[in-house]
Amino acid sequence: MCGIIGYTGTKKASEIMLDALELLEYRGYDSAGIALSDEAGRGTRITKCAGRVKDLRALCEKEDVSGCCGIGHTRWATHGGVCDENAHPHRFGKVTVIHNGIIENYRQLIEKYELDGKLLSQTDSEVVAAVLSRFYEGDPYSAIRKTVLKLKGTFALAIMFDDIPGKIFAVRNVSPIVAANTEDGAILSSDVAAIVPFTTQYFVVPEFHVVCLSRDGIEMYDLSGDKAYIEWLTVDWDVSRSDKGGYPYYMEKEIMEQPQVIKDTILPRIKDGKPDLSAEGIEDSMLAECQRICVIACGTAMHAGLVGKSLIQAMIGIHVDVVMASEFMYNDPVVDDKTLVIAISQSGETIDTLEALKFARKCGSPSISIVNVKGASIARASEHVIYTNAGPEIAVASTKAYTTQLAVLYLLTARMAIARGLWDEAQTQSYMSELLRVPEVMEEVLSAKEEIHHIADTILNAKDVFMIGRGLDYSILLEGSLKLKEVSYIHSEAYASGELKHGTIALITEETPVIAVVTQDKLKSKELSNIKEVQSRGAKVILLIKGDEVLEQEKIWSRIFRLPVMADEFMVMPASVVLQLIAYYVSLDKGLDVDKPRNLAKVVTVE
Ligand code: G6P
Repeated sequence: MCGIIGYTGTKKASEIMLDALELLEYRGYDSAGIALSDEAGRGTRITKCAGRVKDLRALCEKEDVSGCCGIGHTRWATHGGVCDENAHPHRFGKVTVIHNGIIENYRQLIEKYELDGKLLSQTDSEVVAAVLSRFYEGDPYSAIRKTVLKLKGTFALAIMFDDIPGKIFAVRNVSPIVAANTEDGAILSSDVAAIVPFTTQYFVVPEFHVVCLSRDGIEMYDLSGDKAYIEWLTVDWDVSRSDKGGYPYYMEKEIMEQPQVIKDTILPRIKDGKPDLSAEGIEDSMLAECQRICVIACGTAMHAGLVGKSLIQAMIGIHVDVVMASEFMYNDPVVDDKTLVIAISQSGETIDTLEALKFARKCGSPSISIVNVKGASIARASEHVIYTNAGPEIAVASTKAYTTQLAVLYLLTARMAIARGLWDEAQTQSYMSELLRVPEVMEEVLSAKEEIHHIADTILNAKDVFMIGRGLDYSILLEGSLKLKEVSYIHSEAYASGELKHGTIALITEETPVIAVVTQDKLKSKELSNIKEVQSRGAKVILLIKGDEVLEQEKIWSRIFRLPVMADEFMVMPASVVLQLIAYYVSLDKGLDVDKPRNLAKVVTVE
C-alpha cells in the first residue's frame, strides 16, 4: 500500500514524479505529496495535500516546484486520518522521508526519543524522520543503519537530507522498492509500473540494503557498509500495456486483454501437447509425492485457489485446503514436508500471504507461488514460482490476474495428473485442447459485452444482490460478488444455493436480484430447484447457463445469458468474464471511479 517514487537527474523532477504517482495511485489514493531537493541550498521543499494526485498537481501549479531531484508519495492511510498534515513527505530537522508500511513500535520510539509534542502529524512515518534526524551527523549511511535497527514492522523508505542535495537514499523491509538507471540519472519506485516509461532494466532492492541514487547512477550497500552486487532484471512486457489503450478505465482494458494474457500464460508452458513446468524447475516428483495441498492467498487470489481446490480434488483425489492468508496463523496451521503449499498473489507482496508462506517453509513444506509481478517478495520467498503473464494490472479490482491464476491452476492440475500417472494420452489431449480453447471462448463472451451491459442495467439500482450456485459455480460467484461489491458499492453475497434455505433466503423479497450460475451438469437439477425457491419468493433471477442447455421447466429467469459451451471444469472461465463485466458496467453507469474504489488499495502490505 502507498506508492513511492524518487527521481534524480537533469529533468524537472516534479513533472516526472506527478506522472509516476498517477501510475502508482492504485496503491493508495487518499493523499499525495512530493519533496524537492534544492541544489541552490534552499533546503528541501514539500508540497502535499489530502486528495488525489490531480489535487497535488493543481497545488504544484501554484507553488515553486523547480528542482531535478525529489521523492513523492501517494497514501493509503493506516496511522492517522486523511488530512494534509498526515500526507507524506514528512520532514524533521534536515531529514525528509516518505514511507510505505507500518512501524509497529512507533509509540515506543516516540517515548524513547522524547518526541511527544514535537511531531506535526499522527503518522508512524514522521517518527522515522525524527529518529533518522536524531542519528544524522553528516553520514547518511550510519544514520539509516542505526535507525533501521530500531524499527519494528514493515517499511519502504525514501529519504533525502537537506545538506546532500541531488541524492536519494532508500531502504526497505518487506515493503517493495525497485530502482533503475535512467538516461540522465536514476529512479526508484514501489513497483515497475512507474519505471517502465524510462527503461526496461531494473532491480528489486534487497531487504536491509541501502541504495543511493544520484545523477551518476545507483550504489548499493548492505547494512554493514559493504558494497553490494545489483541483480538486474528485465521488464518483459510490452510498455504499451501500461496505458489505458483507448478504454475509459483500466478495468475494462484489463477485462478485454484476457484472451491474450491467457495465451501468454499457457502457451509457453505447453510442449508436445502436454503441460510443461520444467522451465520453472518444478519436478514431477514434487507433484507426485505431496499428500495434501494447502493454498494460501487473499481476496481474489484466494477465490482462484477455491477453483483450484475443486479441480485438484476432482482430478487428483488429494485433499486441498484453501486458507485465507490473514487467518492462517490463527488456526494453528498443520503443514509439513508432505504438504505442497501454493501461495497465490497478483502483486506478490501481500504481507499475510508472504508471512504464511515463510511459516510453511519453516515447517518443511515444498512450495510453489503463482505471482504476476516479476521478482516480487512472494516469488522470491517460495521454492518455485509460476508467473502469470498478465502484464501490469492497474485497476484495483483484479480481473486478468484472476483468470491467469486459474489458467496456471489448470496447467498445474494437469501436470500433477500426469506426474501421478492418472491420465492416459487421450485424457491429456482432450483436457489440453479444451484449455487451449479458453482464449477464443473468452473472445466470444467479450464480443457480447453490450448484451451483458443490458443485463447489468437490471441491478443498477439494487440495494442488495444475491448470487447462487453450487460447486465450481459457487466458487466463481464468491469472486463475482466481491467484484460487484468493490466497484459498485452494492451489497452482494454469494451463497452456496443449497445453503440459502438455512437463513439467508429470509432476505429474498419481491424484486431482489439473484444471479444464478448453472454450468455443471451433475449439479444442474439441484441448482434449478434452488432457483425456483428464490423465484417463488419474487426474486428477479439473472441466469448464466451453458448455451446448449435445454430448460424444460417453465421460465425461471428475468434475464438470461447463454455461455459458450466448454467441458464443465472449464466453464468457470467464460462465466467469470460475464460476472466481471456485470460489475464493471454497474460501476461505470453509476458514475463511480471504477479503477479506484473507495477505501481500497491494490497492494496490501499491512497485516
Ligand atoms: C487487495 C486487492 C485485491 C487482491 C488482494 C490480494 O485487496 O485489492 O484485488 O485480490 O489484495 O492481493 P494479491 O496481490 O496478493 O493477489
